[in-house]
Amino acid sequence: MSTTPAIDEAKLEAFMGLAVTDMGAAISAVMNRIGERCGLYKAMAHAGPLTSQQVAERAGCDERYVREWLSNQAAGGYVEYDAGTGMFTLPEEQALALAEEDSPALPHGRLRPPGLRMGRRGESSVDMFKTGKGVGWHEHDHRLYSGTERFFRPGYQAHLVAEWIPALDGVEEKLKAGARVADVGCGHGASTAIMAAAYPASRFTGIDYHDASIERARQVAAEEGVAERSASSWSAPRRDSRAAVSTSSATSTACTTWATPSAPRVTRARRWRATGPTWSSSRTRATRWRTNLNPVGRMF
Ligand SMILES: C[S@@+](CC[C@H](N)C(=O)[O-])C[C@H]1O[C@@H](n2cnc3c(N)ncnc32)[C@H](O)[C@@H]1O
Repeated sequence: MSTTPAIDEAKLEAFMGLAVTDMGAAISAVMNRIGERCGLYKAMAHAGPLTSQQVAERAGCDERYVREWLSNQAAGGYVEYDAGTGMFTLPEEQALALAEEDSPALPHGRLRPPGLRMGRRGESSVDMFKTGKGVGWHEHDHRLYSGTERFFRPGYQAHLVAEWIPALDGVEEKLKAGARVADVGCGHGASTAIMAAAYPASRFTGIDYHDASIERARQVAAEEGVAERSASSWSAPRRDSRAAVSTSSATSTACTTWATPSAPRVTRARRWRATGPTWSSSRTRATRWRTNLNPVGRMF
């Protein structure tokens, strides 16, 4: 008979800290290269405190992208953020290491050691920083989609039914009694299937504009034995509100942040809310720089 091994919570926490720091560092490695390639470090060097708009103008880049880059850089300690003024500074020491071509401190060559290449998507990110052009979810490498499922699924399994839904006013009761639910931006449908398994009286529709994800969501529903009450449908970004408007509850799991830039998703979500359905949205809280300067903040 197997016994459950005892877990030392402090050790687990310390290890999680290490692993999350490594994940953040892997993302920052690409961001550092973008900073070099787009001339962002040079634009900030010896300039004192700057707004994201000023950094963007000095580097000839799009402000929206530069704002995200600065957020990553501040969370990783590469630039300093002043919560009072909302401005960013590249300290002189970092400027010496990152903005001087022949710096003995950290020649730029060392930001791209063999094996640390940005890849095709990373290289085209430089172009996006310059032009402000967006990139659709469907344009990413296919490994992102399964990676996303694996990244978010354990959180849904642990918290969605046990904590998140009960935290919403009256929603658990509606789901137990039988409701129609749209899971907007369902991706591979992990959250859709988990809800469908937990609330057999309700009907769930996963909605996503990425057809390959919808295909996988259907497989997931079949594998988990909930295909009868969990349909998934492809939806053009502009049509998703119509599909969801007839439901009594709509969720958007990890989707709002990643929504196709042109999709007026949040406005629609507010409209649904006004017309009756309960709207819930799970997303990483990363709206304030001040509270986002930590290893996780390098990723979100
Ligand atoms: C970060 S993924 C999250 C997927 C899934 N909810 C999960 O937690 O694994 C964001 C999803 O939103 C979808 N999405 C983005 N913009 C959309 C839009 N305008 N309409 C429908 N789906 C959209 C993407 O195709 C993608 O599957």
